[in-house]
Amino acid sequence: MHDMASVAMDYDGIVRVSDIQPPVSDTSEFIRAVVDGLSQPKRAIPCRFLYDAAGSAIFDRICELPEYYPTRTERWILETHATAIAKAISGEVRFIELGAGSGGKAEILLDAIEQVRAYVCIDISPVPLASAAASVRARYPDITVDAVCGNYLGKLDLPPRRGLRDICFFPGSTIGNFDRDDAQAFLREWSRRLGQDGMMLIGVDLKKDAGLLEDAYDDAQGVTAQFSLNLLHRANHELGADFDTSAFVHRARYVSEPGHVEISLVSLREQIVTVAGRRFGFEQGAAIHVENSHKYAIDEFTLLASKAGFDSVDVWTDQDALFSVHLLRVAR
Ligand code: AVI
Repeated sequence: MHDMASVAMDYDGIVRVSDIQPPVSDTSEFIRAVVDGLSQPKRAIPCRFLYDAAGSAIFDRICELPEYYPTRTERWILETHATAIAKAISGEVRFIELGAGSGGKAEILLDAIEQVRAYVCIDISPVPLASAAASVRARYPDITVDAVCGNYLGKLDLPPRRGLRDICFFPGSTIGNFDRDDAQAFLREWSRRLGQDGMMLIGVDLKKDAGLLEDAYDDAQGVTAQFSLNLLHRANHELGADFDTSAFVHRARYVSEPGHVEISLVSLREQIVTVAGRRFGFEQGAAIHVENSHKYAIDEFTLLASKAGFDSVDVWTDQDALFSVHLLRVAR
């Protein structure tokens, strides 16, 4: 987890990208993560480095793939149950979105929940943050809009709540990219931050047939493979590494206990790679772990949330039980 300051801004109707500075440049962090990660017996690079500009653009394409059901299914659940979700929330609300640009999912809720008085978007990348804030400001002129440029996993200075009930929206099953202990710690931190009356609306991908899951993370067009391999391209561009990106392949496999898709890059041959002056040898078949995507049974997630200080208010899912949206309330 990062430990960095955040910057909060009230735009007063005008969003200026130049006003927003990212809290830190992460190149030095990236060098450290790659060198440390390749020095471990079980080699791994943290998945947050998948999302440079190129990686984020590839991820947008993943969300449109026929095999990648989470995005469209979560949207369907939100559209279908927006009124029920709104009914389950009482009082005047401040809507806090973790991560900018949920592709219109926040707007589905902002349209349905009439009592939203303020909107706060939190993102580490200034440009998508500014554009999310600008589009909410333009579409909902009566809602006070704040943008916080910072890491929602670390220390954050949120604007004062001004008597509103905080509802945190964390879509996309991004919680699935945390290992289970980290997911619980993250929810614990947010239950503390949201305080009494606080709520969380969170998208959580469900356990299902391993074949469906493996197809969703290894699509026929190879877009997800490009997403993983972009990490090596990024290391070459940003760190002067010399990965032969044609000598690694993307692998996604479902591990049933505790229940996650494990994504790795596997070396096709014996090779040596140099990163920041350090040489790393790879046997044929050696793997670099790049991401886990955890899947939950509904009760399993409810239990994890309760250990983190949340009561379950309601859960919505689709007919095929592919995906779930949980409404949680901070336990009294
Ligand atoms: C962002 N996150 C929820 C995606 C997932 O489904 O775990 C990341 C992803 N990686 C490959 N495909 C999608």
